[in-house]
Amino acid sequence: MSSKETYRLADSTTVEPLINQWAVWSDLIAPAPYSMHLSHYQIKTVSSYLENPEIHLKACRNPKLIGGPFVDIPAERTGEVQTLLGAMQAQRANLELAKAISELYESLAREAKGQSLEPFYARLPESLRGYTELVYDYYNHPILRLMEGPLYASPYYNKAAQSLRIFTTRRDDTRRFFLSTPRLLEEDEIDWRTPFESREIDDLFRLEFTPRPLDYICDVLGFSERQENKLKPLLSREPVAVPERWLGKGPRIRYLGHACVLVEWNGVSILVDPWLSVKPMNGGMERLGYGDLPEKIDFALITHAHHDHFVPETLLRLRRRIDCLVVPKTYNLFYTDPSLKLLARQIGFKNVVEMDSMESLEFPDGEIVAAPFLGEHADLAHGKSAYVIRAGKERILFAADSNCLDAHLYSRLRTCLGAVETVFLGMECVGAPLSWLYGSLLPHRVQHGYDNSRRTKGSNAEAALAMVEAVGGKRVYIYAMGAEPWFQYGMGLGLSEDSIQIKEANKVIRKARDSGFIDAQRLFGRFDIHLG
Ligand SMILES: [Fe+2]
Ligand SMILES: [Fe+2]
Repeated sequence: MSSKETYRLADSTTVEPLINQWAVWSDLIAPAPYSMHLSHYQIKTVSSYLENPEIHLKACRNPKLIGGPFVDIPAERTGEVQTLLGAMQAQRANLELAKAISELYESLAREAKGQSLEPFYARLPESLRGYTELVYDYYNHPILRLMEGPLYASPYYNKAAQSLRIFTTRRDDTRRFFLSTPRLLEEDEIDWRTPFESREIDDLFRLEFTPRPLDYICDVLGFSERQENKLKPLLSREPVAVPERWLGKGPRIRYLGHACVLVEWNGVSILVDPWLSVKPMNGGMERLGYGDLPEKIDFALITHAHHDHFVPETLLRLRRRIDCLVVPKTYNLFYTDPSLKLLARQIGFKNVVEMDSMESLEFPDGEIVAAPFLGEHADLAHGKSAYVIRAGKERILFAADSNCLDAHLYSRLRTCLGAVETVFLGMECVGAPLSWLYGSLLPHRVQHGYDNSRRTKGSNAEAALAMVEAVGGKRVYIYAMGAEPWFQYGMGLGLSEDSIQIKEANKVIRKARDSGFIDAQRLFGRFDIHLG
């Protein structure tokens, strides 16, 4: 082999960020939610698996239990899972933080009834000192506010537990559900111990467009010796295909799957809710991937912190290509609502803009306006934002998982910005109960009676049509339904044509077509829309 031979990343190579061997989303990075989730979900789920692996494996094969707390690891690997449990239990500081949050909240709820909160500072447990502010809402309900800046600078944020798992994706269905199954190392995988902020990650992903010799790649990955056999299957000697730039007259909108959409116009590229897949070895369904995006992305917009919208795996891979990452302003009051600005900075983004409702960012003959986003968070306060992109005369609303709980909001949007002809809306109108995503994060057990009524649900047909009508929509695209096979490890929705969500979406499409809309589609896989 000549040392001059150069390699790029193979199209089927996935690089999955992990914390302590668990796939990463926003709540695993932010220290307070992470501590709660570690204590109340990860340790409990893994302990339950170790008591009876067979029950977990059986549950994982039951389609009705998709998304449940079941570990999908063969029983013969319990030894490795036991070692992982030990590593989780050794995170004493995080476990103490979780315990202190629950206990302090409990005593505040019991004792703080409207009197001054000052005496409570003297009673703060050691693990919360220096990170805590105590406040009331207007009806004297106490709130424990945790300061995220100091928490990231504390031992509660452990960069040493961060790594990247590099592996070949053979088929779309090989990745196990992200929430419940930790990633044990397979023989042909590389476990690259490096903090998410490290610049070497950009060097690795530069290989997508710039092939380099093996020695260079080994250096980037910090290999002490050449691991040619392991590395070569993850690389390719095929020529790099440089993606074409969109030079057409009107805006081109490319749907790339789930909530990920690229808008290109006037030399500017804007990527909404980046979540992409590699191209598996067996081919699978045709799709657009990392190599199909423009080499430079001017703006990447994040609508909210849910794991299918703020996706560290895709964000790290695109980091060097994204000029400006736009995130919604968070409430900065509840620890279950981590600042996406701080989070993005922690994973190495330098240029992060946090937008409040109706703030705008301009580009030549266009702008990005942050628009309100109601619902979908089980009535918990969360930073979230829809976006209206104006490209010349065209306005496009990306409403993500918004639930149109009040159509007046959209009438006001139209009054402020003018009619928005093109609307992208998610319609997961059943949603999960409050406890599914937030149960492990809350300081107390969710009351059964409330759990089902408070759901992470989006718009049904009636709400969707009210929204589209209020903004003056003439094109409607239902997206963000987790339908593509390559996102099942993250969604686990298992929707079919008989699912309520799909029936409601179809109602919207029918109604829009009957009303003479220019276009109405439920998006799946890939789709291009040309405006103007
Ligand atoms: Fe969501
Ligand atoms: Fe979503």
